[in-house]
Amino acid sequence: MHCCRLSLSACLIVGVQSQPDPNVCTPHGPKGEGPPLPLLPEQFMLKVEANILGWNHTIEVVEYYDSINNRGAVHNIYAGHISQTVVNYETKEIIRVRPGAGCHVQNLTANGFNIFGFQLQNGTAHIGSVADILKFGASYNETYIGTTYIRGIPADHWQSCLYNEQTNGTMLLDYYFTVPEHINAEGDSQIPLRLALNGTASNRKFIHGHVVPVNGTHSYSHVYEFFDVQFHPEFPDRSFEPQLGVVCPGRKSLKPLPKIPDQFSMSVEVVLPGMKQVFYMSEVYNYKSKTVVAYYSFTMNGSIVPTSYRSMDDFNTGLTYRINQNTGFCNVTPISLFSSDAESPDHVHVQMKSIASFIHYDTRDWQYQGITELRGMQAESWIVATNEWKPNWLTHNASSQVNSTWELFYTTDAWNTQGGLNKSTNMPIMSKVHWTMKTDKGKLVNGSFDMNHFHFDTANVDPSHFDLSPCFDSGNSKEFAFDILEMGIYNMVIANNTIGFYYGVAHSLATAAGISPTRIANVFAAEDIDKVTTVFFDLLGVPAVKGDAVDMIKQPSLTDAAVALELLINSVNAEEPFHVKFNYNGTEKSLTAKPDTLRNSFKQSQPEDSGSQQFSTGAFVGFGIAMLIIGAVLGVGILVFLHKRNKLNIPYNVQS
Ligand SMILES: *[C@@H]1O[C@H](CO)[C@@H](O)[C@H](O)[C@H]1NC(C)=O
Ligand SMILES: *[C@@H]1O[C@H](CO)[C@@H](O)[C@H](O)[C@H]1NC(C)=O
Ligand SMILES: *[C@@H]1O[C@H](CO)[C@@H](O)[C@H](O)[C@H]1NC(C)=O
Ligand SMILES: *[C@@H]1O[C@H](CO)[C@@H](O)[C@H](O)[C@H]1NC(C)=O
Ligand SMILES: *[C@@H]1O[C@H](CO)[C@@H](O)[C@H](O)[C@H]1NC(C)=O
Ligand SMILES: *[C@@H]1O[C@H](CO)[C@@H](O)[C@H](O)[C@H]1NC(C)=O
Ligand SMILES: *[C@@H]1O[C@H](CO)[C@@H](O)[C@H](O)[C@H]1NC(C)=O
Ligand SMILES: *[C@@H]1O[C@H](CO)[C@@H](O)[C@H](O)[C@H]1NC(C)=O
Ligand SMILES: *[C@@H]1O[C@H](CO)[C@@H](O)[C@H](O)[C@H]1NC(C)=O
Ligand SMILES: *[C@@H]1O[C@H](CO)[C@@H](O)[C@H](O)[C@H]1NC(C)=O
Ligand SMILES: *[C@@H]1O[C@H](CO)[C@@H](O)[C@H](O)[C@H]1NC(C)=O
Ligand SMILES: *[C@@H]1O[C@H](CO)[C@@H](O)[C@H](O)[C@H]1NC(C)=O
Repeated sequence: MHCCRLSLSACLIVGVQSQPDPNVCTPHGPKGEGPPLPLLPEQFMLKVEANILGWNHTIEVVEYYDSINNRGAVHNIYAGHISQTVVNYETKEIIRVRPGAGCHVQNLTANGFNIFGFQLQNGTAHIGSVADILKFGASYNETYIGTTYIRGIPADHWQSCLYNEQTNGTMLLDYYFTVPEHINAEGDSQIPLRLALNGTASNRKFIHGHVVPVNGTHSYSHVYEFFDVQFHPEFPDRSFEPQLGVVCPGRKSLKPLPKIPDQFSMSVEVVLPGMKQVFYMSEVYNYKSKTVVAYYSFTMNGSIVPTSYRSMDDFNTGLTYRINQNTGFCNVTPISLFSSDAESPDHVHVQMKSIASFIHYDTRDWQYQGITELRGMQAESWIVATNEWKPNWLTHNASSQVNSTWELFYTTDAWNTQGGLNKSTNMPIMSKVHWTMKTDKGKLVNGSFDMNHFHFDTANVDPSHFDLSPCFDSGNSKEFAFDILEMGIYNMVIANNTIGFYYGVAHSLATAAGISPTRIANVFAAEDIDKVTTVFFDLLGVPAVKGDAVDMIKQPSLTDAAVALELLINSVNAEEPFHVKFNYNGTEKSLTAKPDTLRNSFKQSQPEDSGSQQFSTGAFVGFGIAMLIIGAVLGVGILVFLHKRNKLNIPYNVQS
């Protein structure tokens, strides 16, 4: 009895020294009478209602069996709680998730008990046969008893007698299957309806984790009702995976996190379930340029129309440029030490959060959670638990305890975007954060937010996102133009590659002149009738506000920067002419600036934007997860900023 309390399934299979109990039954050889035995499938899904005499409660079990793919899982429903057991023969792990008790991982061994059995096939672990799991089949020397009715369903009745020497247990099994002519709701016939088993066994006690035989015997009686039996199952999503959002300490992770590119743009829907609020924004990252841009809008107190913002953090200069897109007004402030995309090594200077700063995310035990269908896409996800995440908007007390779990979902390799010649794969599509915190008063509070990511693009990160010209009036900026030496190349490498080219121009000029790339704005190229390509751009000044960034390039004044550019292009004695280096279909190309052509008085005849096809390559460099985390945190940082303005609370659900 005690053993049965430990595991229902154990009772099914284990039933102690010497001889079968003749009062139960006498084992015998095959009798060879009656109709052929029902054939059992290699895959099934069924529910069992288990009633064990003297237990005073019913247990329901959902079983998922897949011998073809070598996996099995069960859900035990007991006293209003569902606990889950997943047996992974590939990683040799048994994973149990119990409500309120978290997840436990155990090694799968040949002699340890597990409902799905264990076989060695060609030296590898394999799930047991269906006959052995159900304890039904020719090897059990079934005796045909005849037909009867079970729950109004015509049924064939088989009986077998099993004796287990180890437990000195004898049991009589009565199996009922639908007759071949009866088709169940799922379209299957000869499916199990009921198993009734009675028997006796030596008494055992569970002492210090071991089952120990004690004097005496007991008898038992179990009835298992099978329903919802599917012999041709379509296993629901994640049938063979622990539920999402549960961290299983010690579980083997089958896959590393996908690499995140060093530049990308995406839109984010931030969902705050606690507040029933949704917030939209889009974000652009450029790790090489050390810039982060966010687009968002909100309605200010007392206003009836929402205000749209484009906010850019420039870590080259340590400044935040917040441009009110309704009015064009630009507000320049130093990047806050508490900005969610920033970190500070010394509590004075800011720097862009990088993989190095997120190294704990990178080296942490991110666990692969398998495949899930999300928004109609196949997604893979990873989960990690941490107590290091303590955003200052949640708590200002460094000794507060905050436990959080992070889940990241990416589309599988088989999915890609069609939004550019350079297709993106492994698109991030969702992140989920859940935290619990103990307040100073000892109260437990929890909260969560989900983010849906979409419109992910690693290829077409348009330089216009980084355009700061609205923040500089004509007194603090200068228009320039220069010509390209190579003739007739416009249509070849620029027209269908403007994003790559314009980005290249800004970076080449900035690097050569020793200024932040964000000071080169409004880059534009056009070809005249003589096949000469001219490049136009604005050189921006230096804002009055000073930032405090790590490795800040000291920004020369507008005049000094203009002189530097002139030296670069107009100095006839230059040993090396200035080159514009840019990306073209994945390779670096270089064009020469025609010496002595830099000018700031010119007639600009900009044609209308032809909306030409654009492409460039997103260089996939392994910055790991850092960028995405920035995305997640950034979203929330801005939200908190908004809620502070509106004097709203952070989404907490008080637990106790
Ligand atoms: C085995 O079971 C039988 C029948 O219940 C009982 O008579 C016998 O004493 C048991 N043997 C041992 C070693 O427990
Ligand atoms: C079935 O009968 C065979 C032959 O008598 C015997 O070897 C085998 O152990 C029996 N199986 C069971 C489960 O009793
Ligand atoms: C089941 O209920 C009966 C009657 O109330 C009681 O005697 C017995 O101990 C209960 N069994 C268990 C396992 O709780
Ligand atoms: C499982 O097996 C591995 C090696 O195969 C061992 O390192 C680990 O400690 C085992 N875990 C448990 C819980 O026994
Ligand atoms: C075991 O190996 C043999 C020969 O390599 C192969 O024919 C057989 O299918 C394998 N069995 C299983 C279960 O993989
Ligand atoms: C099994 O045991 C129960 C309860 O002791 C009894 O009612 C039932 O008739 C038994 N069934 C068989 C097949 O012996
Ligand atoms: C168990 O049985 C043995 C021999 O029958 C006896 O010596 C022993 O005292 C018994 N133990 C208990 C706990 O009753
Ligand atoms: C928002 O407006 C309301 C009513 O005009 C006012 O009572 C409240 O203090 C304002 N809140 C903020 C944060 O300005
Ligand atoms: C955080 O997790 C630890 C370890 O699991 C636990 O002891 C602690 O109570 C948790 N704290 C909170 C606030 O949930
Ligand atoms: C910070 O939290 C700790 C433990 O939660 C508490 O003992 C301490 O008083 C708190 N400090 C402040 C300044 O609130
Ligand atoms: C860009 O256009 C030129 C001229 O039409 C063509 O030769 C070249 O292959 C195009 N490049 C790409 C990447 O489409
Ligand atoms: C772009 O690059 C790819 C792979 O390097 C190559 O297959 C393709 O032909 C190139 N396209 C053009 C237009 O050069």
